[in-house]
Amino acid sequence: MATLEIKDLHASVTTDEGTKEILKGVNLTVRSGEVHAIMGPNGSGKSTLSYAIAGHPKYEVTSGEVLLDGENVLEMSVDERARAGLFLAMQYPVEVPGVSMSNFLRTAATAVRGEAPKLRHWVKEVRDEMAKLDIPAEFAERSVNEGFSGGEKKRHEILQLALLKPKFAVLDETDSGLDVDALRVVSQAVNDFTASNDVGVMLITHYTRILKHIQPDVVHVFAEGRVVESGGKELADELEEQGYVKYVGKAEPAAL
Ligand SMILES: Nc1ncnc2c1ncn2[C@@H]1O[C@H](COP(=O)(O)OP(=O)(O)OP(=O)(O)O)[C@@H](O)[C@H]1O
Ligand SMILES: [Mg+2]
Repeated sequence: MATLEIKDLHASVTTDEGTKEILKGVNLTVRSGEVHAIMGPNGSGKSTLSYAIAGHPKYEVTSGEVLLDGENVLEMSVDERARAGLFLAMQYPVEVPGVSMSNFLRTAATAVRGEAPKLRHWVKEVRDEMAKLDIPAEFAERSVNEGFSGGEKKRHEILQLALLKPKFAVLDETDSGLDVDALRVVSQAVNDFTASNDVGVMLITHYTRILKHIQPDVVHVFAEGRVVESGGKELADELEEQGYVKYVGKAEPAAL
C-alpha cells in the first residue's frame, strides 16, 4: 500500500514576459489501488501538475509538497522519481529519432528495475504486452514515436506503463485521439495493469467516454491551477452536461 500526497503545491513557469504561476495550491492524495479522474478546462494546469510531479525542469515548484510514502519527491532527480515508482504518460509524447523503441524500453526498464532484464524473459514480456495493445511487432525497431500516429503514440505510452510497473501513474489525456477500438484496447490494458498491480492512477481526461471503460474511484474538477471539487462518477456526468462555468471565476474584461 503506497500513498502519493500533493499538498498545497504551487508551480510557475518562466516566460519571456516573466514568471507566471500556474499551479495555485493543489491538494490531492492518491492511494495505491485507486483511480482518480482529473477533469478541467484547457489551460487550467493539468499537464503542468503532471510535469511538476515528474520533475520537468521548466516548471519551478515554488511551495508545497509532493510526498511518496512520506518521502519528498521534489528533492529527487527525474531518474530517482522514476525509480521511486512514478510514471507519466505524456499528453504529447516526445519523438526520439535514432533510438529504437526496443532499445529505449530496455534501457528504461534497466534503469527503473536496477538491473537489466534477462533477455529471453524480456523479449517475451515485450512481445506479450505489445500483443495486448495490438501493436505490430515491427514497431520495436522504429525510432521512438517518430512518425507514429497520435493513437500509436498513446498505445506506446501504455506499453511503457505495463513494462515499467510504477506505483503511481499519471495518464495525461491518454484517450485523446484514440478511435473507438483503440480506446477499448488501451482501457483494457490499463484495467489489466491496475488489476494485477498495486498501483494508483491519476487519469487526466476531457471525456467521460474513457470513464465508461476505466471506473474512477474519485473524480476531481481541476480549475485555475487547483482542485476545486471532488466527488464520485456522477461528477463526471455533471461536467459533461454543464461544463465548467460553475467552477471558473469570471475573467476580468480585457483592457482595450
Ligand atoms: N512552457 C510554458 N510557457 C508558457 N506558458 C506555459 C508553459 N507551460 C504551460 N504554460 C501555460 O500554463 C497554462 C496551463 O497549461 P497546461 O498545459 O498545464 O494546461 P492543461 O490543463 O493541461 O490544458 P489542456 O486541457 O489543454 O491540456 C496554460 O495557460 C499554458 O499556456
Ligand atoms: Mg494538458
